[in-house]
Amino acid sequence: MTRLKMGVIGVGGIAQDRHIPSFKLLEDTVELVAVQDVNQERAHEVAKKFEIPHAFGEYEDLFKQVDAVTICTPNKFHSSIAVAALDAGCHVLCEKPMAITSNECQDMIDAAERNERLLSIAYHFRYTPEAQLAKKAMENQEIGDPLVTRVQAMRRRKVPGWGVFTNKDLQGGGSLIDFGCHLLDLSLWLLDDPEPVEVMGKAYNRLSKTPGQVNDWGAFDHETFNVDDHVTSYITFSNGLSMQFECSWAANIKEDYTALSISGVDGGLSVYPFELYQAKYGALWDSSAKIREGEPDPGYVQAKNFADSCLGKDELIVQPEQAMKVTQLMEAIYKSSETGKSVTLTK
Ligand SMILES: NC(=O)c1ccc[n+]([C@@H]2O[C@H](COP(=O)([O-])OP(=O)(O)OC[C@H]3O[C@@H](n4cnc5c(N)ncnc54)[C@H](O)[C@@H]3O)[C@@H](O)[C@H]2O)c1
Repeated sequence: MTRLKMGVIGVGGIAQDRHIPSFKLLEDTVELVAVQDVNQERAHEVAKKFEIPHAFGEYEDLFKQVDAVTICTPNKFHSSIAVAALDAGCHVLCEKPMAITSNECQDMIDAAERNERLLSIAYHFRYTPEAQLAKKAMENQEIGDPLVTRVQAMRRRKVPGWGVFTNKDLQGGGSLIDFGCHLLDLSLWLLDDPEPVEVMGKAYNRLSKTPGQVNDWGAFDHETFNVDDHVTSYITFSNGLSMQFECSWAANIKEDYTALSISGVDGGLSVYPFELYQAKYGALWDSSAKIREGEPDPGYVQAKNFADSCLGKDELIVQPEQAMKVTQLMEAIYKSSETGKSVTLTK
């Protein structure tokens, strides 16, 4: 069987920790052919480390060798590189967030359509075993119509001190666009893509501006720190749903936690850990399903879904239109915070 020839663009942390090892595990269907990075030395080192035949400094050279690419560069370059890859005839898996602005996301979708290529985004929280159980519960109407969603993506004093995470020009934002985006995507997916109507948001960066701030994930310059480190939002949807959202990189709390719960008419669920509560026989029963031992790593499931979709054996789980909606929501949260007013979204 013909294997999918894959290339990796931007071979820093996430490429080496998740994408390359995951695609390597798929050797029956995927051949990792080339890597590219503006840091050519790194490209060569990574190619050698993972026994990948080609390393390039220019992505045009990589496109000629492959059927599909995964883009793992800073956020600012996601859209332009994805469009170039799609125009060169490659399928694209792009790291999250899809792009910094929704206009950039639209450019990516247009390029995928005009070239009839696949485009997906690495929102890998969907592939966690807990999220898979929650999705099944929602599809089976286990909680009835959902009403209220509560989301908290909270880290205790952990601003990433490495890479470019605190650089607004390159990343477009901080805790929201880096971490909160995963939980926004997961929520919208579980809720079956409701249409957001109104967004209130507040983005802070006071926690990381103080000299000598405590940070468990390495040093960063508090003077040049110009992204959000704590964000809150309230979002309403056209079908009557509402969402309370909060994320932080640097909260003064006891410990890190990620929480997503949905209250519905007939029951409720929590994703991390997965729990299901159903109103039956006059009482609220805890009918949680158990996570089985040995569930595959979300990064592997993501790579397999993308590769199998490119080979015509599966369908993409993360559709680009869904990922664009996450970017639209984040834009609205930032805009609301800047203006102090709610943002109304029209379709
Ligand atoms: N899914 C997740 O949970 C997760 C986790 C971490 C990072 N990410 C995302 O992955 C992306 C990369 O993050 P990272 O932590 O690997 O960063 P990183 O800084 O470790 O690596 C980025 C790499 O991209 C290269 N690069 C920069 N500009 C480039 C360009 N124009 N063309 C080609 N290469 C370029 C850099 O030289 C570097 O090697 C970001 O979009 C980030 O949001 C996702």
